[in-house]
Amino acid sequence: MSFQNKFFASPVRLLAPMDGLTDPLMRQILTQIAVDLGRPYDWSVSEFIRVTQHVLPAHVFYKYVPELHHDAKTASGTPIHIQLLGSEAQLMAENAAYACELGAPAIDINFGCPAKTVNSHRGGSVLLDEPEVLYQIISAVRQAVPANIPVSAKIRLGYTDTSRMDDIQAAIAASGANWLTIHARTKTQGYKPPAYWDKIHAFNSLDIPVIANGEIWNAEQAQACMQQSGTKHLMLGRGAVTRPDLIAEVRKLDLELPQTDSMSTPELSWQTLITHQIKFLQGTAKSDVVLVGRYKQWLGMLTKGYSEAQPLWNALKREKNKAAIITALEATSL
Ligand SMILES: Cc1cc2nc3c(=O)[nH]c(=O)nc-3n(C[C@H](O)[C@H](O)[C@H](O)COP(=O)(O)O)c2cc1C
Repeated sequence: MSFQNKFFASPVRLLAPMDGLTDPLMRQILTQIAVDLGRPYDWSVSEFIRVTQHVLPAHVFYKYVPELHHDAKTASGTPIHIQLLGSEAQLMAENAAYACELGAPAIDINFGCPAKTVNSHRGGSVLLDEPEVLYQIISAVRQAVPANIPVSAKIRLGYTDTSRMDDIQAAIAASGANWLTIHARTKTQGYKPPAYWDKIHAFNSLDIPVIANGEIWNAEQAQACMQQSGTKHLMLGRGAVTRPDLIAEVRKLDLELPQTDSMSTPELSWQTLITHQIKFLQGTAKSDVVLVGRYKQWLGMLTKGYSEAQPLWNALKREKNKAAIITALEATSL
């Protein structure tokens, strides 16, 4: 069976890799919500694992992707692909092969990261200005990884501008990548709206599936993105954290079900979401301080998706004690 038939028989809906945001705990919560709503993600991708000098030890892979202990799936059964970031083709290939030995179901390669430290070491989006290196990395990884395991790339439209798009496309075509995800902005455009979905269109001449990503916060934007990019495959980023039921709204488009006014009648009620917030706070993290910080980051984002989140945010933004936050959340669900 070809990858195309196995992975893309119908339009795919993916949860984006987001370093420090869709960590294993958040992935567990968001993929569980999607499954509970009967509209699961097809897969998600791990936060990037940075490859610099050697083949990383197993514990590093397990730290970023604890799902490897469970057939590389979240508790709700959603597969997690492993993302690597680096500039050294041979080293990337060796790490990818090792990740596969540990159970990675697919390898994704990051060419989108805008971080200064990463870019100054010639990793992430800066490589969009060096399509030949892009080609070398993907093709080395493709050759090193067992033939039955797909290798994909995630790119932006360019580094400072879109002038190298044709070269990037040629590099991807020659590299043997099995699919391509495109965040429809350059590195310079950062994370600010708009996303230039129409620019993705040119990549559809590749004979591999193309996944569109960027600035999808509701079903209308998902629809517009599909129309303008000319691809049916979508990856949801910050919108999926802000509205954990966005996946259900987007899946309704596939089923051609009527849309609801998501603010007034959400697929996922605030009360149910409270129970997930409590589960999040009961999850595993380096420390309670880290967990509380991560929770507040999420609650801050939820204020953009749920009007009920604002009073909670006002009440909890200065609270540092995890138990007190859980008590406050439990009180709202009485
Ligand atoms: C906090 C944060 C961390 C991110 N980390 C990664 C990452 O590790 N790997 C990656 O390929 N993209 C990463 N991205 C980019 C997202 O996957 C996605 O391409 C981007 O957020 C655009 O989608 P959106 O507008 O729907 O959020 C990150 C984005 C954010 C906001």
